[in-house]
Amino acid sequence: MFHTIICDMLGIDVPILQGAMQGAGGPRLAAAVSEAGGLGILHTFGDTLDDLRRDIRDTRALTSKPIAVNITPMGKAFTQSRAEVCIEESIPIVTTGRADPGESAVRMLKDAGIIVIPVVPSVDHAKRVEAEGVDAIIASGCEAGGHVGTVASFPLIPQIVDAVDLPVLAAGGIADGRGFLAALALGAVGVQIGTRFVATPESDAGRSYRAALLEAKESDTIVSDSMTGAPVRAIWTPEIAAYEKAKKAGATIAELKPLRQAVRAGGAKGAAGQNAGMINDIQPAAELMKKILADAQTHSRRLVTLADS
Ligand SMILES: Cc1cc2nc3c(=O)[nH]c(=O)nc-3n(C[C@H](O)[C@H](O)[C@H](O)COP(=O)(O)O)c2cc1C
Repeated sequence: MFHTIICDMLGIDVPILQGAMQGAGGPRLAAAVSEAGGLGILHTFGDTLDDLRRDIRDTRALTSKPIAVNITPMGKAFTQSRAEVCIEESIPIVTTGRADPGESAVRMLKDAGIIVIPVVPSVDHAKRVEAEGVDAIIASGCEAGGHVGTVASFPLIPQIVDAVDLPVLAAGGIADGRGFLAALALGAVGVQIGTRFVATPESDAGRSYRAALLEAKESDTIVSDSMTGAPVRAIWTPEIAAYEKAKKAGATIAELKPLRQAVRAGGAKGAAGQNAGMINDIQPAAELMKKILADAQTHSRRLVTLADS
């Protein structure tokens, strides 16, 4: 079902990538998604090199299918050291997030035979990484959980599809078969899903984070730089709202500091996208993926009937 060019490129059966998720992803989730025919991706943000090596080995103990590692480029040394581990561990695919991986990191990974797929929030960024020699692009709209840009998926995906000569995957706001199908209709060859995979038994998300996600409505997320220093979409909390309100009112760096500390000391529940309002149950990753694909097929038949009517 829905076998696309990205399936052949990555050696997977279905075009569903599990977005790397600091605070929610991990070996069990990555392995479950890969075992179900998609691509499980491990995060490196906030992890040591030993954490990464352990996570790769733990994932490989659970699946022999392809897995990927996400590198959040946080300076040359960070990026290079994570890339070196990926090469040592024969990781076949690397995604990058938040910032530009840079030409030298892309070349280092590609010289080792690794497929490189950056997550980008804008057309300019997509063109830049295409020039750096990447293999595919994940266009991520600002409704996504985690680090975000400013453009929503509906306008972003077709503009990136038109601007580059590479396979484009869609991320941001996809949680069911309708979103999956819409992404393909916009020109994507697959999807990357994050928030929906938090609500699986295989995710490493804590109990209060999962509970908050299940309760959240579509308007219960907020974009704030209080968590990592760059804009992150997360579940709304009073601490994040207080920080954002003070920032908007022109608070100084010194005045913002205790508010940011309050967020980082427990005032954040976890990153989540605007699709949080669509998530009402915990479902095993494999079942979830099967349902997304089956529903997408049902909806595609409905659309064909509609087009012919
Ligand atoms: C809890 C959480 C943590 C995330 N951490 C990362 C990360 O470490 N690196 C990264 O590139 N993207 C990260 N993301 C973004 C996801 O990989 C994915 O692109 C995004 O969630 C897709 O949008 P969606 O949440 O609407 O499905 C994170 C997202 C969430 C929800």
